[in-house]
Amino acid sequence: MVWPLPRRPKGEPAPEHLAPPAAAPAAQKLDLALRLRRNRKADWARRLIRETTLTVDDLIWPVFLCEGENAREPVASMPGVERLSIDEAVRAAAEAAALGIPALALFPFTDPSLRNEQASEALNPDNLVCRACRAIKREVPHIGLVTDVALDPYTSHGHDGILRGEKILNDQTVFVLVEQALNQARAGADIIAPSDMMDGRVGAIRKGLDAENFEDVQILSYAAKYASAFYGPFRDAVGTNATLIGDKRTYQMDPANSNEALREVAQDIEEGADIVMVKPGLPYLDILFRVKERFGMPTFAYQVSGEYAMLMAAADKGFIDGDKAMLESLIALKRAGADAILTYFAPRVAKKLKEIA
Ligand code: PBG
Repeated sequence: MVWPLPRRPKGEPAPEHLAPPAAAPAAQKLDLALRLRRNRKADWARRLIRETTLTVDDLIWPVFLCEGENAREPVASMPGVERLSIDEAVRAAAEAAALGIPALALFPFTDPSLRNEQASEALNPDNLVCRACRAIKREVPHIGLVTDVALDPYTSHGHDGILRGEKILNDQTVFVLVEQALNQARAGADIIAPSDMMDGRVGAIRKGLDAENFEDVQILSYAAKYASAFYGPFRDAVGTNATLIGDKRTYQMDPANSNEALREVAQDIEEGADIVMVKPGLPYLDILFRVKERFGMPTFAYQVSGEYAMLMAAADKGFIDGDKAMLESLIALKRAGADAILTYFAPRVAKKLKEIA
């Protein structure tokens, strides 16, 4: 169940470098007390000194939802990823549970006719995400469900908040986000994950949840979320590339900043976040490392859609080994400090880890 492991198949002869070395002339020997390669000399030795492991327990699988029955709609910019109708999502949840994946994160493709300025569909108790939560909880009760709190799949302009003129209104948005979070909690969401980057939303959501006796519902805060080009394929998947006006730089963070991420995380912890997240993943390992070092909080990383798309595209062209690059990217996130990772590779990784265990 652990990375990376391809072991020597039974019966295959030992590689030549493990054969007894021909004695080297003494004059050609370096006088080294320390030879770090000693600990890497064989697979068993490498396994003993391995500092970080990747297991199925580290994975959260983000799943896109669409309306319909038996529907699986490919997402063009994310090869291998499909939007699933609720019945298919229930099957996917069962598959994930059987593989040992602890949780799913749900993202809806909202019918464009239901998107408006106020994001009112976000508050509909029968919206796609809520129906999916109820259906999955009914059929696969022991898988965790993470729901995204942000208005972008519901707004006609594709922003995460309420827009007036060119401005995203912070406080008005937070009031709606609290209602959105409650709507999801009532439908059975286990973890509420605000990804909107409004100020004060974690505290407001915590208060709202507690007031309705949802004190056991966790908050996974997208605490340090950057305004990133790597979200492009996700926006195809949820249909916001078509709607988004402008960019999200007045609320998502500037990729040039690092100290600011610590302030964002500190604030969310103070407001009651149970888990904090850094997003994107691989291009922001330094942020992940600093956040984990500084706060010692449960810290997740999101290997986002663009990271997935890049690896898939390069593997498809034969430029890299897809399986190896997938596992390496995830162990890198673990090493930098992630306790768990949201990744579109989740089921593939889970299968791969089983295969090489
Ligand atoms: C919505 C949201 C986004 C992602 C997760 N939640 C997109 C965005 O902020 O524009 C991105 C995930 C990914 O790229 O895989 N607020």
